[in-house]
Amino acid sequence: MGTAVVTGIGSWLPPRAVENAELANRLGSSDEWIRTRTGVRRRHVASAGMAVSDLAVEAGARALKSAGGGEADAVVLATATPDHPCPATAPDVAARLGLWSTAAFDVAAVCSGFVYALAAGTGLISAGIARRVLVIGADVFSSILDPDDRTTSVIFGDGAGAVVLRPGDPAEPGALGPFDLGSDGAGAGLITVRAGGSRQRLSGAEPGPREHFFAMAGKAVFWRAVQQMAQSAGAALDRAGWRPRDVDRLVCHQANQRITDHLADELGLPRERALSNIADVGNTAAASIPLALDQARAAGRLRPGDRVLLTAFGGGLAWGSVTLRWPSLGDGAGGAAAGAGEGERDA
Ligand code: UT7
Repeated sequence: MGTAVVTGIGSWLPPRAVENAELANRLGSSDEWIRTRTGVRRRHVASAGMAVSDLAVEAGARALKSAGGGEADAVVLATATPDHPCPATAPDVAARLGLWSTAAFDVAAVCSGFVYALAAGTGLISAGIARRVLVIGADVFSSILDPDDRTTSVIFGDGAGAVVLRPGDPAEPGALGPFDLGSDGAGAGLITVRAGGSRQRLSGAEPGPREHFFAMAGKAVFWRAVQQMAQSAGAALDRAGWRPRDVDRLVCHQANQRITDHLADELGLPRERALSNIADVGNTAAASIPLALDQARAAGRLRPGDRVLLTAFGGGLAWGSVTLRWPSLGDGAGGAAAGAGEGERDA
């Protein structure tokens, strides 16, 4: 049976970069604490009035250009920060990309959203429902962060990344391997925005003062993230018939540099095989993996033929992993994505 093959990639960051020093005083934190506990030095933040669709359109256009231009007959947008609770944001993104009558829907799996959206796009292609799928991961977490919560405000940033999928052979470069996906709703309360849904409505009773903000039990999530990504990554490797040492590039959800380092250790991989862009963009939620891939590609740290392992973990709780050999792709960014290729480092 055929599978989905990555045939284009692009990303975009809002231009404004916020350095640690700008946040530290107000939050009773310090550049040193943020750097040593998280690895983040700066993050990009959307300006007032900039919505997630604006970022998604920029990344999507670059991915389509990298794929040689043309159409997509489905758009799958992973985001936890849609323009509105209703309708989904993907149809608006599709229309603004000139993709009319296109299947378009959002995927809500928070920080694992991009891997889930990749799986959805792969399913559309494998089932013969779509021939070219634009898969976007985009988030504007600055719109839901509690400005007084120093544990979250210092970690998250805004951004978008996208890939284009086409049908292909499982043996060719870019082919997505078997996925591992999973969830544990018993941990739902660890990463939440409590108010604004049907459980805790914004109409009627006023929500508590901070309940419409994002909240995370960071400490409880930290080791769970390491263990669950290691387990899921192991399952994806097994299904692909790869051993951990076959992996040239580990691209995990960029939640915290210490999580990335521990995950590499758990998998028995040298830490320098893990790509990292968290220093310059923070945790960009659904955008994290495609942004890291695109920046690494632009910087020459991800080369055609590299064996790549993607793995993510986040709110839900939900996780997912998949493997691919990196394909040779056209350049959709033209250097336009803010921060593209900058400041990336091998962990
Ligand atoms: O994207 C989805 C997945 N996300 C994750 O997996 C995130 C996982 N969690 C983390 O990355 C980390 O837990 C955080 C970065 C959120 C927090 O780091 P930590 O090392 O786990 O800190 P902590 O929560 O255990 O707090 C240690 C101390 C506390 O002070 P006391 O109680 O020891 O006096 C905090 O109040 O650090 C304090 N603290 C800070 N101090 C300065 C917490 N945040 C800050 C801060 N600046 N920004």
